[in-house]
Order: sequence, then structure tokens, then C-alpha cells
Amino acid sequence: MEVVIVPDAKAGGELIAEAMAALLRRKPDALLGVATGSTPLPVYEALTAKVRSGAVDASRARICQLDEYVGLPAEHPESYRSVVLREVVRPLGLTEESFMGPDGTAEDVQGACESYDRALAGAGGVDLQLLGIGTDGHIGFNEPCSSLASRTRIKTLTQQTRVDNARFFDGDIDQVPHHVITQGIGTILEARHLVLLATGEGKADAVAQTVEGPVSALVPASALQLHPHATVVVDEAAASKLK
Ligand code: F6R
Repeated sequence: MEVVIVPDAKAGGELIAEAMAALLRRKPDALLGVATGSTPLPVYEALTAKVRSGAVDASRARICQLDEYVGLPAEHPESYRSVVLREVVRPLGLTEESFMGPDGTAEDVQGACESYDRALAGAGGVDLQLLGIGTDGHIGFNEPCSSLASRTRIKTLTQQTRVDNARFFDGDIDQVPHHVITQGIGTILEARHLVLLATGEGKADAVAQTVEGPVSALVPASALQLHPHATVVVDEAAASKLK
């Protein structure tokens, strides 16, 4: 695992956007796995700027989601489908055809999970998966105690994660769904390159446990230690508890 400490979130965004741009120059139809939440936004802004300036051509890029709320209508502004379309797909000049995600509105949720794993494999696998990290060490929505071999499946959000995410729902925790479909840890580990971005002091404990703690289902992000090509990009605040 490689750990890169950057001065701030903007620098982290620029660094990861450049890694994505380099990948797209090598492999124009690369499948980029994207995360939602606040942390990755500087990455998407920096990558969009590179596309608009002509520094990279992303017209053949493919985008896939990491997770999705269960039961939130697809057109809800906070469904992860809506967020990824708004923050990534459209700014990059792509269309919905180049984008895939799990169906959080499916009646057969288990079937939707299995079909998403098949779709990822059928697309040739994820080339670069961008990850955020929860304050409890989750990646995707693999909350603590998730199996390190897990596949895409339904999960129940912890109270802490629902509190953390209430800010996207007018601060009203009652509007935050209880369930999500998330790529499993085993699914995530199949991506060719994992890039985790963590910024801010609130992530410092989770980062320290991820990087310096034992590999443990109690800290799902620690599974990155098992991956042959994992990069953890942290700002100085998020790195503050590393030894
Ligand atoms: C969302 C996801 C989550 C977030 C994590 C951190 O797609 O994968 O693991 O990355 O909850 O969220 P922020 O960045 O908002 O602190």
C-alpha cells in the first residue's frame, strides 16, 4: 500500500485526477469506479477541468457506481445515480450509456446485486476505483464487520453513517434511507487500482487504523492492505494520527 500525504483536499483531487487522466491516455475506454459523498468532489472538479482544457480526452471513459440507496427513487437528487450523473458523468461530457450502477429500486434486491456484479465483470472489471472512507472505516457501505470476501449485496447503514449523511438530506436523519446496495469488499478488491482519498481530521483515526492497524473486518478499509495496487491519498489533517 502506498500512502501519499498532500497539503489539502484540492491537491489530493488534482493528484488523483491526474492518475485518472494518465489511465485514460493509456486506455481511453477505462472503467472508472466512482464514490459519492463530499471527499471525491475535488477529484471530479479537477478531472472535469482537464477534460475541458483538452489535457485529456474522456469521451470513451466508462463510469460505474460503488453503491446506491435502496428505495430512493432513481430521480431523487440524492440517489447516488443522480449524484454521479450530476457530479461526474455530465461534467465529463458523457451520456448515461457510459454509466452503470446497481438498481436500488429493484423489487428483487438480491437479483439486482448479483446482476451488478455480473455487469462489472462483463465490462472487463474496474480499472481504477476511487474510494472515500467513513469515520467508522467503511468503504463503499461495507460497515464494520463486513466480510472481507463479500460481494455486492444489501447492507444496513449504521446510525453513525446515517447521522454523517443527514447533511445531504436537509439535516434530517429520518430522510436518510436505512439500506443500501454496496459493492462488497471482495468486489472492490477486484479493481485493478484502488485509490482511497481521505481529508479532514474527522478521518484521522480511520486512516491510522486502515494503514497501520491489522487487516480486520472491524475496519473494512484495512482490506486495502491485501491489494497489490492500492494508493491512499490523505491530507495533513487526515494523516495526523499516522505514526
Ligand atoms: C459513498 C461511499 C462512502 C463514502 C464515505 C465518506 O459512495 O462510498 O464510503 O465515501 O461515507 O463520505 P464523505 O466523503 O462524505 O465523508
